[in-house]
Amino acid sequence: MSGRLAGKVALVTGGSSGLGAGIVQRYLEEGATVWNADLNAPEQPSGRYIPLDVCDEAQWEQVLAAIVAESGGLHVLVNNAGIFTSSPVDETPVEDFRRVLDVNVIGVFLGCKHGVRRMKSGGGGSIINLSSVTGLRGQVGGAAYGASKAAVKMLSKTVALEGAAHAIRCNSIHPGIIESPMLRAAMAASGNPDAAEKHINGYLPMGFIGDPVQDIGNMALYLASDESRYITGTEMVVDGGMITGLPG
Ligand SMILES: NC(=O)c1ccc[n+]([C@@H]2O[C@H](COP(=O)([O-])OP(=O)(O)OC[C@H]3O[C@@H](n4cnc5c(N)ncnc54)[C@H](O)[C@@H]3O)[C@@H](O)[C@H]2O)c1
Repeated sequence: MSGRLAGKVALVTGGSSGLGAGIVQRYLEEGATVWNADLNAPEQPSGRYIPLDVCDEAQWEQVLAAIVAESGGLHVLVNNAGIFTSSPVDETPVEDFRRVLDVNVIGVFLGCKHGVRRMKSGGGGSIINLSSVTGLRGQVGGAAYGASKAAVKMLSKTVALEGAAHAIRCNSIHPGIIESPMLRAAMAASGNPDAAEKHINGYLPMGFIGDPVQDIGNMALYLASDESRYITGTEMVVDGGMITGLPG
């Protein structure tokens, strides 16, 4: 541990699984006090778990009050919790579309709203929102998910501008294909997970799927630390070159 987050209190939503668990692990390694707010407790204890449905405003207020009371403040908020769906636009039930917007957009909005309030009175902080490359490019089947992730991108820029005078930074991370239960579930839904994985590895320029700790955890670490003190309102793409251009 080199203590890059020493003295900081961080809250990661959806930290029980996948990318969020990777971020929790990396933050702990660098000396932060880390809270994991998730619908479900993690299988392996990591950080301090507190139950939260990110869609519920009253729960957000309770969770943040508890963290500040116990840890003395909030310096880093990672709005990572999210859900994935894929279906053609003309076959997507409106209830499914609304559910994706509720978790992926309203959930992030509520985190930003109450995180900003806490950070304003606490002297600033860093908010990191998980978007996706599908918030930057279209994707077949991605009507709901892509729309939600594009909304996260623009919400982050507003928070960055409004927070700047209060020493609050806000950036979005745009992962490509990263190892996680969400990814494995999407592959399984294709009906042939092995073929899906081969297909993915075939079109990734670097030829491999990203890692939650090494690739997303390290980017989230940089954005949380004071090393990124002049970086706000940006889109950090972590995709092994996936959306850079067409294959040769
Ligand atoms: N895995 C990828 O390839 C990938 C790519 C781009 C973006 N992302 C984004 O990264 C984030 C994490 O994805 P992942 O792959 O780790 O997914 P995951 O399904 O493995 O983990 C998501 C976590 O969020 C929690 N969660 C879901 N709904 C919640 C709610 N309402 N309140 C609180 N917690 C809730 C789940 O319990 C779970 O622990 C998501 O926002 C996702 O859209 C993932």
